[in-house]
Amino acid sequence: MSTAISPTAYNYKVVRQFAIMTVVWGILGMGLGVFIASQLVWPELNFGLPWTTFGRLRPLHTNLVIFAFGGCALFATSYYVVQRTCQTRLISDSLAAFHFWGWQAVIIGAIVTLPLGYTTTKEYAELEWPLAILLAIVWVVYGLVFFGTIVKRKTKHIYVGNWFYGAFIVVTAMLHIVNHMSLPVSLFKSYSAYSGATDAMIQWWYGHNAVGFFLTTGFLGMMYYFVPKQAERPIYSYRLSIVHFWALITLYIWAGPHHLHYTALPDWAQSLGMAMSIILLAPSWGGMINGMMTLSGAWHKLRTDPILRFLVVSLAFYGMSTFEGPMMAIKTVNSLSHYTDWTIGHVHAGALGWVAMISIGAIYHMIPKLFGRAQMHSVGLINTHFWLATIGTVLYIASMWVNGITQGLMWRAINDDGTLTYSFVEALQASHPGYIVRALGGAFFASGMLFMAYNVWRTVRASNPAEAEAAAQIAVVGAH
Ligand code: HEM
Ligand code: HEM
Repeated sequence: MSTAISPTAYNYKVVRQFAIMTVVWGILGMGLGVFIASQLVWPELNFGLPWTTFGRLRPLHTNLVIFAFGGCALFATSYYVVQRTCQTRLISDSLAAFHFWGWQAVIIGAIVTLPLGYTTTKEYAELEWPLAILLAIVWVVYGLVFFGTIVKRKTKHIYVGNWFYGAFIVVTAMLHIVNHMSLPVSLFKSYSAYSGATDAMIQWWYGHNAVGFFLTTGFLGMMYYFVPKQAERPIYSYRLSIVHFWALITLYIWAGPHHLHYTALPDWAQSLGMAMSIILLAPSWGGMINGMMTLSGAWHKLRTDPILRFLVVSLAFYGMSTFEGPMMAIKTVNSLSHYTDWTIGHVHAGALGWVAMISIGAIYHMIPKLFGRAQMHSVGLINTHFWLATIGTVLYIASMWVNGITQGLMWRAINDDGTLTYSFVEALQASHPGYIVRALGGAFFASGMLFMAYNVWRTVRASNPAEAEAAAQIAVVGAH
């Protein structure tokens, strides 16, 4: 009896595929991050070729880390969590396989088209219309598999982690489709259906909610399953998790205008975005506290369990970046931070500290279970990875804070006669040491991913097909 056809087993094949690709895309996306960070230190690395310039590789970095690395982590974990908490197999193996291969095709499409310069120019929505349509189709299939599995669940209630994954799926579809409305003029060129301030507003409604629903809500779904599992404690408060869910999804959708402060967007819309962003602190911290407090009585486990450390430190960075975000949304603060490296530091506090760390923790939790092993090949290597990731994140964000505030202050410094105190190049020169530290921090983080790849490879290599099949047998109700 093979795992793939056994009706009494979970579909772990697609989970394994997405889990492995999370590591692969993580290495490529972060490796490219280190490369573009190095270009900002040594501009010669642009090589004078159009397709290797910073301007073309930067969107490839964001697409690879968000959609390839982050996306595969979300798909692997959501398929794992939905099956185990619903005590049932995915509704369709072929649709799940289509989801996996379709998603990889979109990523390959990005790797080919972005360096060639094909782009809509909308941040995080750069892929031209044929790829955007393919992505929409793949996404609908994902929604069918996920919600179809929830419908045929054997458990009475729907575990809260699935609510978060569900909101991530529905809202991402809505954002992607609305923001990509455009008029194609050739196979690889289209123009947005919106214009002027409306186009900007739609784009940042999309952009902010890509952060809110892709980089946050989906990963909170991950948090609600893997933190209690790894800590071997029930979630601190189920009631808080429900309040957290509704408050978060109700508020996030209004905060987009904080990306457009002091622009042609109507002033009331900017103020509304600012107010909603400040209120957003409450549900964000509610979620962080719920995760952290799950460790009550289990804090000692942090001493010996580096996987739990990844998960808990990710929550700390989540708390930090969701405190920083509302502060940066205040118009007067934003007048200093906008356009500077402070934004880049904030982004990576969330991206490295929260998104990448929680994904790494979840993948380390799942890999042995998916491949029928008791634990990862080396706990020591997970520990090494943990320290490389933590030190790398701290170097990254601290250097960008220093750079950001330096840039903001130098740009606005004015002499008595009203002329600028510093030229732009002087602010750039002052930023140079920070760029070196950021590249170093990035190299720390990315090298940790290489340790992970080796550890995963050794674990998979030692896997025994019969044990892996046994691991995929549907657990008895109550044991998820
Ligand atoms: C309560 C939560 C948060 C709020 C209110 C918030 C607010 C902000 C603000 C005000 C900016 C700067 C906008 C600008 O000046 O252009 C920003 C940028 C950004 N934030 Fe957050 N943030 C939050 C959480 C997060 C988290 C958790 C992540 C990542 C996982 C994140 C990712 C980003 C990204 C990617 C940008 C850059 C967008 C761009 O310009 O390309 N944010 N955020
Ligand atoms: C080794 C790790 C990484 C390094 C060295 C790195 C480096 C960089 C660099 C140099 C930029 C361009 C900054 C600029 O334009 O001034 C950037 C942008 C960005 N990166 Fe990363 N990155 C890393 C990991 C990640 C991860 C894991 C994510 C998401 C999960 C991510 C998300 C982003 C985003 C959203 C932006 C655009 C920010 C904005 O427009 O405000 N990065 N990264």
